[in-house]
Amino acid sequence: MSKDTLTITDNRTSQTYTLPIENGTVRAMDLRQIKTDPDDFGLMTYDPAFMNTASCQSQITFIDGEHGILEYRGYPIEVLAEHCSFLEVAYLLLFGDLPNESDLRNWVYEITHHTMLHETTKKFMEGFRHDAHPMAMLVSSVAALSTVYPEAKNVHDADNRLLQIKRLIGKMPSIAAMSYRHSLGFPYVYPDNDLTYAENFMNMLWKMVEPKYVANPVLARALDILFILHADHEQNCSANAMRSVGSSYADPYLATAAAAAALSGPLHGGANEEVLKMLDEIGSKDNVPAYVKKVKEGHGKLMGFGHRIYKNYDPRAKIIKWTAEQVFEVTGRNPKLDIAIELERIALEDDYFVRRKLYPNVDFYSGIIYQAMGFKPEMFTVLFAIPRTAGWLAQWQEMLVDSEQKIARPRQIYTGHRTRQFVRMEKRAATTAEKH
Ligand code: CMC
Repeated sequence: MSKDTLTITDNRTSQTYTLPIENGTVRAMDLRQIKTDPDDFGLMTYDPAFMNTASCQSQITFIDGEHGILEYRGYPIEVLAEHCSFLEVAYLLLFGDLPNESDLRNWVYEITHHTMLHETTKKFMEGFRHDAHPMAMLVSSVAALSTVYPEAKNVHDADNRLLQIKRLIGKMPSIAAMSYRHSLGFPYVYPDNDLTYAENFMNMLWKMVEPKYVANPVLARALDILFILHADHEQNCSANAMRSVGSSYADPYLATAAAAAALSGPLHGGANEEVLKMLDEIGSKDNVPAYVKKVKEGHGKLMGFGHRIYKNYDPRAKIIKWTAEQVFEVTGRNPKLDIAIELERIALEDDYFVRRKLYPNVDFYSGIIYQAMGFKPEMFTVLFAIPRTAGWLAQWQEMLVDSEQKIARPRQIYTGHRTRQFVRMEKRAATTAEKH
């Protein structure tokens, strides 16, 4: 018998089954043959929150959570952050290899020439309340692009898919900047094709009456590095939403809106905004021990700490810490950094965090940089969504061309009532709605 197999004995029937093991996994469908009798449905696996289930095969992003390693298409994140631009990395994620000079020139040209938004999108944005959360505006506006590009629903046409991919990567910063200017009551700024991806985003955010916006090169590079670090992270909550919604062949604007909605939650990308609120609440270095004690007693979480996959320092957090130093040389030091460093120091020495292998994640330091650059905390998750769009689209494309994939449709273990006697209105007991 091959060594790469798993032998299971079903003690209900004393029958033995041998299943192949491939890539350290058994196929859940191989368990279906395990039945108590021919009418039995067959054995399933139960895995709430996908704690131990691979939902796909992927060649995009590799993470070794125990050793704190992150690679896109085989290139370590540290190397990409040092040597590449964000659009170069987006190309790598989408096409599998780094672009050569002319590929990159064409790619940058294409993305740059898809940054303009249809004027109706502007009107749509104008309809939001002045205090609408920028992330909610982003999610809704990305979904609204589906109305502008109805041909996007032809998801099996590779050329059409590529066009929508370019549009989405190009337009994401434009929508993000609009949502920002909307919340400030400033007029929207049109893209400037002379600028790089990050510079153009800064232009659309911050240009006032000057004829030409000139971005600070250190800040533009820092933003580009942050974009690289956030570009993909394999099967996280939002990538899973992208694949799941995309698996029904919904168009990429709607699938991206769903992914961005998943990102907005405080346990995912929304954590960066929560970290700033937490640092505000702590207020000073001296209050850190009391705050950590409170968390250990079960009152809240240390936001920006912990990760489903990383049981070591998040490699992105290390690069962000380094980038923060560069940014602070331009903007001045954000005093919250001292609170964050103290929080990290105390937490990393504390048995509660050590035993659970809770380390700072990408969201712990990113907000401190964003704030130093002048962003309001409500914008932080929007800044995460811009580059992650490249990753979502790479995941979406990979899912669509994977012959093993079908519509994502998990099973359940039904624990509710079975066929009940109908009760007429006058005979019903007090409502049960309040119990829920
Ligand atoms: N502060 C305090 N305790 C924590 C934290 C935290 N930040 N994170 C996890 N724990 C505890 C948790 O209570 C549990 O303890 P116990 O074993 O006693 O019940 C243990 O550590 C394991 O945690 P878990 O909730 O089972 O882990 P998970 O893999 O389901 O959750 C997580 C991962 C990221 C949702 C969680 O660590 C968390 O909520 N962190 C804070 C929010 C955050 O920073 N999110 C950003 C994640 S990274 C970027 C991204 O993906 O967007």
